[in-house]
Amino acid sequence: MKLIIAANWKMHKTAAATAAFCQALRRDEALFEGVDVLVCPPFTSLPAASAGLEGSTIKIGAQNMHSEEKGAYTGEIAAAMLVEFGVRYVIIGHSERRHLMGETDQQVSLKVRAALATGLQPILCLGETESEREQGQTAAVIKRQLTAALEGLAAKDLLSLVVAYEPVWAIGTGKAASADDAEDAAALVYRLAAEHFGAESAKGLRVQYGGSVKAENIGSYMALPSVSGALVGGASLEAESFSALIQAARKAVLH
Ligand code: 13P
Repeated sequence: MKLIIAANWKMHKTAAATAAFCQALRRDEALFEGVDVLVCPPFTSLPAASAGLEGSTIKIGAQNMHSEEKGAYTGEIAAAMLVEFGVRYVIIGHSERRHLMGETDQQVSLKVRAALATGLQPILCLGETESEREQGQTAAVIKRQLTAALEGLAAKDLLSLVVAYEPVWAIGTGKAASADDAEDAAALVYRLAAEHFGAESAKGLRVQYGGSVKAENIGSYMALPSVSGALVGGASLEAESFSALIQAARKAVLH
């Protein structure tokens, strides 16, 4: 399975900073062979990313979108507006949107369907909070979030879908999940997808781990049988550290 490593910049980087990052990251592009690499800037920096990555194999993702095609939704962005700027992927249901903005499983489900209908590849984020984990609810939370998001999808959609397992307690804390916990969660995602669409179709899905990933620990996740990528926050903000992280991931799967 081809690795997919995505930079989620969250609310960081102006257009000027995005242009500088793209220029720097491209210098190492030859070292990323065989890995799908993408950057997910804020909306206003998408044109700069699009221009800065023209002719590059590095792809662009957005961090959110609305589920409707158009309409009276002040401040929102539709999938077609993202496509115009060369966006190929869109992060959906990130824990910061679920927990800070109140995004529901139902909204996440509608967004996943709208993204696929527009030809965007959704990166569906899911994962338990610290208290859910302490109460032994990890598997139940993953099951609830994934089942809701798979609602209304077809087996073929799994070829486009990426699921990012991001335990909320590991995001931005430096407390990365253990490799065993990441594998358990990713394997559960595959089992649930197989229950819905059959084992053969589930094989098309890619599962990322996210939460305090850096160059020093990414290798342990990429070596896992059910994990084939990472969604990276803090360590993706500097081109140098993001490049080092991609190279470390590549090394981990090459031997
Ligand atoms: P950190 O890598 O900063 O922990 O963030 C993870 C994340 O939320 C990526 O979407």
